[in-house]
Amino acid sequence: MQAWIIGNWKQNPATIHDVNALLDDLLTTMNATEQANTAFTARCQLMLAPSFIHLTTVSARLKGTSALCAAQDISAHSATVGAYTGDCSAQQIADAGATWTILGHSERRQYHQESHDKLLQKVTHALTQDLGVVFCIGETQAQYDAQQTLEVIDSQLSVIRDLLAQQPKLIDSLSTRLIIAYEPVWAIGTGKVPTVAEVSATHQHIKQSVAGFAKSLSAITVLYGGSVNADNADSFAADSMIDGALVGGASLKAESFLAIANAFSRANT
Ligand code: PGA
Repeated sequence: MQAWIIGNWKQNPATIHDVNALLDDLLTTMNATEQANTAFTARCQLMLAPSFIHLTTVSARLKGTSALCAAQDISAHSATVGAYTGDCSAQQIADAGATWTILGHSERRQYHQESHDKLLQKVTHALTQDLGVVFCIGETQAQYDAQQTLEVIDSQLSVIRDLLAQQPKLIDSLSTRLIIAYEPVWAIGTGKVPTVAEVSATHQHIKQSVAGFAKSLSAITVLYGGSVNADNADSFAADSMIDGALVGGASLKAESFLAIANAFSRANT
């Protein structure tokens, strides 16, 4: 199975000059990695998610490479155009060269009050414009401490369940266009991580829940995210329930991002 390694650049880098410098490093390191390990692209799918403003640059520079480009969010209001100041639609994202979008990241849930209904609209808009969806879920520290992880996850996954109930026609596109990213909020950017056994058990639960929504989703890809780095990537990669990583901080350096990808590539041999 191919591992997915996704770089979530968040609100970085600061300038287009820095974006191009990071891409220079990434493309050079990717080339070297692919030459040294000819099976790399078969084992690892890379994806980069820059800010809206950098999407066109990044997607243009990734053209002809094996890496994909994603947005970090899309408008909930319309899949196409409309009077929604500050928003960017799924159609605009696709036109800028992205083929995927992250949705429901905990920073969006926290700072933009992204509700179940808003996310349901966003996932629908993404799929109708043929954008794949990396759907993020995960519990807060308080919920983890109260052992509510699975309950929280089930409630967040109800967006997918409800989408299928409302639009059963989307089942086919969902089976190839949906990835779940499990990111405990307390592990994001903190250097704290759950044990591999904990992540593995949670992923198993996610896979079972999603397969329960539709049989065709039984091979769903589930990524782990939250303080993944070059040092801990091997341990996550070694677990068969962990299909890749959603990487924040460590995706801003070519070396650490490709080191994480290499760990998953090695584990997939
Ligand atoms: P982190 O972020 O790798 O910096 O913890 C992960 C994420 O927020 O997707």
